[in-house]
Amino acid sequence: MNVRTSQFFHQYSKRFNEIYGNENNFLNKLINKYFRKSMRLRFEYVFRNLNDFNNSSVLDVGCGPGHYCIEAFKKGSSNIVGIDFAPNMIEIAKNKFASENIDVKYDFIIDDFIDYEFKNTFDYIIFMGFMDYISDPDQIIKKAIKLTNKKSFFSFPQKGGFLAFQRKIRYSYRCKLYYYSKRDIENLLNKYNIKYQIEEIERDYFVTIEK
Ligand SMILES: C[S@@+](CC[C@H](N)C(=O)[O-])C[C@H]1O[C@@H](n2cnc3c(N)ncnc32)[C@H](O)[C@@H]1O
Repeated sequence: MNVRTSQFFHQYSKRFNEIYGNENNFLNKLINKYFRKSMRLRFEYVFRNLNDFNNSSVLDVGCGPGHYCIEAFKKGSSNIVGIDFAPNMIEIAKNKFASENIDVKYDFIIDDFIDYEFKNTFDYIIFMGFMDYISDPDQIIKKAIKLTNKKSFFSFPQKGGFLAFQRKIRYSYRCKLYYYSKRDIENLLNKYNIKYQIEEIERDYFVTIEK
């Protein structure tokens, strides 16, 4: 397990959760507008096909405080699983589900996605803001393909540019980050017999893999 990343997100959980809320002070608004546009866009991209999630099973990998899990529930998913190796993130996600009137099957797992053995597969798997922290992306893609029934969604942070540079500086004391070019992603995915789509959104590549 990548202990440094897990500990960083364990401690950062409350503040990370607040990014999604309406922190209305001027500085936060400015940061969200210029540096976190990608977070908003990838959320919109995952849920843009309205009927996809109806009656589906969903796995949210590196689920953090569970915003994608809640949205999957709202979009009609009937079985939702979130996994994250930062215990405080899972705590927030669980509390969120407990405080909403959630009447479908759900589960939250504290573990490393790389090590955890899932007993079943999922219609949709969400990997948002996750590949940034992964030293061996091939291992993740292999496991994602094995576990996906229909589609999986990934964000990959783009190599180069001002946004990557400022983020690298901000994260230098937090945890190690990994960046990708479009060619890196193509090389990663071309090994497999899958259909995929790569879209550029702000500082990320949004990748959809179809089985
Ligand atoms: C930037 S947050 C993204 C949270 C959520 N997906 C979102 O976009 O709102 C990344 C999360 O991935 C988790 N994470 C990173 N590597 C992981 C791994 N190998 N197994 C499980 N969780 C992991 C971190 O603990 C953190 O909560």
